[in-house]
Amino acid sequence: IKKVTTHKLLEMKHKGEKISMLTAYDYSLAKIVDEAGIDIILVGDSASNVMAGYETTLPITLDQMIYHAASVVRAVKRALVVVDLPFGSYQGNSKEALQSTIRIMKETGGHAIKMEGGAEIGESITRILSAGVPVMGHLGLTPQSIYKFGTYNVRAKEEAEAKKLLEDAMLLDKLGCFALVLEKIPAMLAKQVAESVSIPVIGIGAGPYVDGQVLVLHDMLGINKDFSPRFLRRYADLNSIIHQAVEKYIEDVKNKDFPNEKESYF
Ligand code: KIV
Ligand code: NA
Repeated sequence: IKKVTTHKLLEMKHKGEKISMLTAYDYSLAKIVDEAGIDIILVGDSASNVMAGYETTLPITLDQMIYHAASVVRAVKRALVVVDLPFGSYQGNSKEALQSTIRIMKETGGHAIKMEGGAEIGESITRILSAGVPVMGHLGLTPQSIYKFGTYNVRAKEEAEAKKLLEDAMLLDKLGCFALVLEKIPAMLAKQVAESVSIPVIGIGAGPYVDGQVLVLHDMLGINKDFSPRFLRRYADLNSIIHQAVEKYIEDVKNKDFPNEKESYF
């Protein structure tokens, strides 16, 4: 199997071949996603919401991210595995950012890290890159800053924020990030960013004019029923499938239909 590399992703942008990315947080689902041929698996800090049930991404710890990432890496043969640096493990301190990154690289076997922010984290990005670790940027709606924004609404609709976002994207490119996620911003701004930087731009709620797309696996599989933003396309209704399977199992146990003779050891 030919592994996906950061160089391959850059080539894909230049050839106009779209990049596919999904999250995964555990061995079993990561295995399915990798075998299906995804280009990038993100061990997102959305694990805080999806796996742990927290309202925001802020509570998840570096140790917990390492547990998820190590589980995913054990399953993956082809995809590039990118791991989110969680809230509190890098902001405002480039030395801590590097230490967190080194723990992720040593203890998980992941291939790259992702961090939220622009100029504010420039020094950390430079420090991590100088240690030889590829960095993916993340601009627009950055959920670790939710209490600064106040809502999960579309970002950068105003001129000033759009200008800052474009400048940040160009800075991340210049610093040497290998790719950039844009979350929940106007499609035409995302297009402008993708045309202004040399690195692949991966969108979520950022429209079609970017170099690739990312979704949260549990959302696109329809596992959680109550999250349905405009940008989410559901490719399965696993909530119903799992619900019905569990109901049938309960019924079979109660009716003494399960286990039958063939399912027992005599
Ligand atoms: O944590 C996550 O799932 C993410 C994606 C939404 C890009 O950062
Ligand atoms: Na994230």
